Amino acid sequence: VTSEKPAMEVLSPSPVVMTQDELKRIAAYKAVEMVESGMVVGLGTGSTAKHAVDRIAELLHKGKLKKIIGIPTSTKTHEQALSLGIPLSDLDSHPVLDIAIDGADEVDPNLNLVKGRGGSLLREKMVEGVCKKFVVIVDESKLVKYIGGSGLAMPVEIVPFCWKFTAKRLQELFEYAGCVAKLRTFASANEMENGGLPSVTDNGNYVVDLYFTRDIGDLKAASDAILRLAGVVEHGMFLDMATTVIVAGDRGVTIKNK
Ligand code: 5RP
Repeated sequence: VTSEKPAMEVLSPSPVVMTQDELKRIAAYKAVEMVESGMVVGLGTGSTAKHAVDRIAELLHKGKLKKIIGIPTSTKTHEQALSLGIPLSDLDSHPVLDIAIDGADEVDPNLNLVKGRGGSLLREKMVEGVCKKFVVIVDESKLVKYIGGSGLAMPVEIVPFCWKFTAKRLQELFEYAGCVAKLRTFASANEMENGGLPSVTDNGNYVVDLYFTRDIGDLKAASDAILRLAGVVEHGMFLDMATTVIVAGDRGVTIKNK
């Protein structure tokens, strides 16, 4: 394991090839080492965060962690944690968290993130915005040169009312970056046109996925512009929030600290 401030280092000359899920688990287990007895812990959402929740439950049951309180970031994680016997609470009762552990869809060199391809961005941002340490766990495929650089979606949660109007305004906002805005659905785009179902978040909202072909530039300005649009609830850019990013790759684990 290497801890570093700025750039990534090569950790081992002979990489061991692991599946993406194994890498996710390794990053998750490493993050859980930072959890101490008595902590209030934000529980993330997604396939990587799921490993962290499993590990916390395992350590609780073994008595290696005591008196943890989990704050889930989605109904799915709530169900998982509940089924594993992790004591749970919410932000009303615990407005400050000691640590939160969650995955991400993109991590840029400044540790800015894209999150929410799992649709839980609003609750994640609420929970992870009030924790003393926000530990992000990823496999190395999530590292990008710039936000939006994976070519995959940057999600925006919007209210269902006149969603086409809001989606169009979002697309227009980022015309300079070749933006295409698509409503997230359960069905293919073709089926959606024929009445397919929009994907609905835990908060009863829709998600519009923004796809960029060019760098959107100033992230703070982009964030402000999105949040100024009436109809937008939250977006999936997590700027300046991560305090630590744990990256698992075939050559080992790298820890990047803010
Ligand atoms: C859910 C998220 C997830 O953390 C993100 O999508 C990463 O997911 P995974 O760990 O499954 O790759 O933001 O809203």
